[in-house]
Amino acid sequence: MSTRVRVDLRGSAERSYEILIQPGVLGQVAGLVRQRFPHCTVALITDHTVRDLYADAILSGFESSPKQACHLYTFPAGEASKTRETKAMLEDAMFANRHDRKTVIIALGGGVTGDLAGYCAATYMRGVPFVQVPTTLLAQVDSSVGGKTGVDLPAGKNLVGAFWQPSAVYADTTVLQTLPGDEFLSGLGEIVKHALMFSPGMIEMLVTRHVEIMQREPVLMADLVAQNCAIKAHVVSADETETGLRKTLNFGHTAAHALELVSDFGIAHGIAVLAGMLVELRAAVHEGYLAAGHEQVMRDCIRIYLPELPKIRQFDPGRLVEAMLLDKKNESGRIHCSVPTAPGTAPEDPGWTRPFQPAVLTRALDEVFAQG
Ligand SMILES: NC(=O)c1ccc[n+]([C@@H]2O[C@H](COP(=O)([O-])OP(=O)(O)OC[C@H]3O[C@@H](n4cnc5c(N)ncnc54)[C@H](O)[C@@H]3O)[C@@H](O)[C@H]2O)c1
Ligand SMILES: [Zn+2]
Repeated sequence: MSTRVRVDLRGSAERSYEILIQPGVLGQVAGLVRQRFPHCTVALITDHTVRDLYADAILSGFESSPKQACHLYTFPAGEASKTRETKAMLEDAMFANRHDRKTVIIALGGGVTGDLAGYCAATYMRGVPFVQVPTTLLAQVDSSVGGKTGVDLPAGKNLVGAFWQPSAVYADTTVLQTLPGDEFLSGLGEIVKHALMFSPGMIEMLVTRHVEIMQREPVLMADLVAQNCAIKAHVVSADETETGLRKTLNFGHTAAHALELVSDFGIAHGIAVLAGMLVELRAAVHEGYLAAGHEQVMRDCIRIYLPELPKIRQFDPGRLVEAMLLDKKNESGRIHCSVPTAPGTAPEDPGWTRPFQPAVLTRALDEVFAQG
């Protein structure tokens, strides 16, 4: 079973690309890259954890092709590696191996690898092609689509980077089996977000097939990943630079960012997003933006994947709202959030985001925390 999703960017064939989603596609990546870039040397970039698990599946595919060298470049796993220093280390190592303009980079790993290797590709010799092989659920449904690349700075996350589109994305859902539980939940947070914002059909799938989804059944996951890529591809094609429709992808994230900040990033992003959506939906009912019946349908779907709020409940709602007030989307003391108008229905232009009173968000936090 394989599915292809096309990402069309402003009608430009050169910058458009295909996402191939298929259980087991990892073993074919070398062949696909050799076919597409027959005269390029290859730089395979990955972190230490993913190297140990999956790098051989790609490297072995280049061994039979002595003319097309594939060099491996690695760095320690985790967000702490997404820095200018790691990027410089990778670039220096690539120069030492004489990679020139005729190089293609393969980013094998999660969002950290995709952002870092993609940013290397955007700037190495003023830009070389790159291929994404996402191995976390988050990377498969979110970070590998959209062309955002970059690194973190001491001053904040993702502060330096570039828009640089991959030439192709190859997503193998069998690799999700080895993903730690919290990492799997991180991807699910974004999947539930896409469903609640854009797809009544996916909401139904998340509710009725929840057991198989939690078992990470590869064929079902491929279907789910494909639906999510199609949604994200549609959104980023319509709004490449984040001035309109793309704002809807921030659903749940205003509250989630506050939860992450106040917990000193001690909770997984996916849990923060699931909880953040509960809070923003509750507040939207109080502001009169959403019918209570619609909220309940969406809350029921979120609660299947987040039955209780571990740890988060200890935070003071007042402090969380203060953190939300720091968000750059705010205007005149109101907090701006993007919330669906009904299950699976995104708000329409120009109301991508709506203003919320801080007191309403405090009340919503109190109520969500009281539900446990
Ligand atoms: N570019 C974008 O549009 C975009 C969107 C969302 C998030 N992001 C970025 O993505 C990053 C988070 O991505 P992530 O959650 O994938 O983090 P990650 O890349 O750090 O991966 C999480 C952990 O899982 C391990 N791992 C990866 N695949 C595995 C597998 N199949 N089996 C076992 N372990 C595996 C990694 O080694 C790592 O330790 C953040 O830096 C965030 O800013 C970017
Ligand atoms: Zn997110």
